[in-house]
Amino acid sequence: MLSRFGIKNNIMVSSMIDIIAGARPNFMKIAPIICAIKKHQAGGGHIGYRLVHTGQHYDSRMSDDFFSQLGIPQPDMNLGAGSGTQATQTAAIMTGYEQLLLKDPSKLCLVVGDVNSTMACAIVAQKLCIPVAHVEGGIRSGDWTMPEEINRMVTDAITNYFFTTSEVANQNLTNSGVGKERIFFVGNTMIDTLLENFNNLRPPSFWNRLCLKYKQYFVATLHRPANVDSCTDFTRLLNELGVAARGLPIIFPVHPRTKKNIRKINGLHENIFLVKPQPYLEFNYLVKHAKAVITDSGGVTEEATVMGIPCLTLRDTTERPETVTIGTNELIGTNPDNLHPAMANLFDGHWKKGSIPEKWDGKAGQRIVKILSGMI
Ligand code: UD1
Repeated sequence: MLSRFGIKNNIMVSSMIDIIAGARPNFMKIAPIICAIKKHQAGGGHIGYRLVHTGQHYDSRMSDDFFSQLGIPQPDMNLGAGSGTQATQTAAIMTGYEQLLLKDPSKLCLVVGDVNSTMACAIVAQKLCIPVAHVEGGIRSGDWTMPEEINRMVTDAITNYFFTTSEVANQNLTNSGVGKERIFFVGNTMIDTLLENFNNLRPPSFWNRLCLKYKQYFVATLHRPANVDSCTDFTRLLNELGVAARGLPIIFPVHPRTKKNIRKINGLHENIFLVKPQPYLEFNYLVKHAKAVITDSGGVTEEATVMGIPCLTLRDTTERPETVTIGTNELIGTNPDNLHPAMANLFDGHWKKGSIPEKWDGKAGQRIVKILSGMI
């Protein structure tokens, strides 16, 4: 067990912060922060970290693969929270993290993104008077039906220091009364990871078997309740998608919560190829060379924007509006009827080119650690 003041990896550190990660979209956000801390330590810096995995995602394909591909060290602690309803999972993470902090408090709790682990650990830390820093703070969809939006709002209500990805996020925070001195516009750590790994992206094992050709296939990822929880609606959506793809293959990495319903669908459209959740390097290779991405994820819209790949988001709202106003993303909505005009626009070559949002330049992790080192 690490203590607040101690030696880790033979380096004397005097300020131990907790870095919290629990679910797949967290792992690519913490990797550049850890990398920047290691560089800071190598230069004699005083910040140490304890990596706490909450165990929200536990399958190797949802967790371990990301640690090994992104060079993230083994967690110092795994809370083993596992799955459950929103409340069950949140409670398990809170109980586990509270026990850890009571035994061995840290100087600061750094949470990323908007998953249940983010909110759960922020609450526990703040109630034990440990300051909270939120990476990707301030983003809002305004859609309270998504658990992630509740997580964002609750986390930001009790966050001390905000590391933001956009001017829109800065504005959301100032509008809600957060003082400018607590907001640090640093850029996007998820994009740090993409740029760092861009030259190492590699094709998945099925690339040749499915005879995939550059810009001649689509990638689809869907896991939001609004798209996948009703079997009837999901079947219709997939059928419309298959037709709208005009014979091009659609590669569909299936998230665990999507698997349950996709199994029940009889007669999946012949263009749709279901594959397991892909590791980071393979997934982003698929995106980089796709004709377009069809998704309900938030992070994928950012990666597609940076790679200049058309992105059709099957949601009615987004917490990342710059991917639409600046990038390659369009909100298509959850009604499958909207797919055809959007796909026709794409096939006609009319999709916008997009550009890259400010400070999405691969240096967010470094900026965060520089700010932290002056703070704790
Ligand atoms: C979570 C995040 C979401 C993120 C998504 C990415 C919240 C509220 N949601 O949603 O923001 O986009 O992760 O993956 O935190 N399961 C497995 N293996 C695993 C993990 C989960 O089989 O490793 C199963 C669970 O048993 C459950 C389902 O997947 O049935 C949902 O998992 P959960 O972590 O609760 O939420 P996600 O829907 O994945």
